[in-house]
Amino acid sequence: MIEQILKLKKEKGAVILAHNYQRAEIQDIADFVADSLELSIRASKVKDAKIIVLCGVRFMAETAKILNPEKKVLLAAGDAGCPLAEMAEYPAVLELKEKNPSAMVVSYVNTTAMVKSITDACCTSANAHIVVKNIPSDKVIFLPDKNLGYFVQKRVPEKQIIMWDGYCFVHRQFTLKDIEESKRIHPDAEIIVHPECNPEVQEAADFILSTSGMLKRAKESPKKTIIIGTEEGIIHRMKKENPEKQFYCLGAAKMCPNMKKTTLEKLKATLEKESNEIILSAEILQKAKKSLEEMIKYT
Ligand code: 13P
Ligand code: SF4
Repeated sequence: MIEQILKLKKEKGAVILAHNYQRAEIQDIADFVADSLELSIRASKVKDAKIIVLCGVRFMAETAKILNPEKKVLLAAGDAGCPLAEMAEYPAVLELKEKNPSAMVVSYVNTTAMVKSITDACCTSANAHIVVKNIPSDKVIFLPDKNLGYFVQKRVPEKQIIMWDGYCFVHRQFTLKDIEESKRIHPDAEIIVHPECNPEVQEAADFILSTSGMLKRAKESPKKTIIIGTEEGIIHRMKKENPEKQFYCLGAAKMCPNMKKTTLEKLKATLEKESNEIILSAEILQKAKKSLEEMIKYT
């Protein structure tokens, strides 16, 4: 299967980009594995390849298309969505914007292309607080993740943030009890969690980082045991990059079923048929691009 995918990739002139939460075998076959911010930047810079195959969820493939509209962008698993992104629906965002005309909108990249088209600046978990700090308005509508919003508000207390009531159902499963239990079992370990975790989990952790930040910290940390509070797929790469260290999931392993929809079989079929192509109107492409360019400024 792997040989067939590599052959197809060469024949079609495709590049495979995968998120850090993908299955191990998908990460291993990809040309580039990264977090949402790095994937966006990489997608914007693809020159030679004719096709970009995104192994991740829909908003990531849409982002690649918006940033590189000349390329054919395929989502490896066509039905892989992100429920968090679906929590901010276009009409409701528009209504909130109209109610708060002096506020600027900062949207997490986990949003639909339609919502990006009415956003002033996008952000990822790696740069959300920097984007909010720098946006030229004291009043900000932040969407859709309220836990990332909590993280941002603590770091940018001078701004008034109108928070959307969204959350990631995967990260919401981590609890304070998981942290207490992990500390009891591994008293010398360092605990790193994603900013999509609930506030009390963030407060009790040693570090709150995006997936790229977690990978960097895993390398730099003097600790030999590290507990990870995010989707379990990232641990594959951590173990590969740091064979001398031990990595554990915080509590029971949490999986994002959407991220796990990409299999080698689906990747092969998508490449073969060039299916699951991302199609967006010229208007959405043009409007959404501005908000993503703002995001990329702060890397
Ligand atoms: P990162 O931006 O850290 O890659 O996270 C994306 C995501 O979907 C988290 O659940
Ligand atoms: Fe969406 Fe959460 Fe899955 Fe990330 S982990 S893709 S935010 S559902």
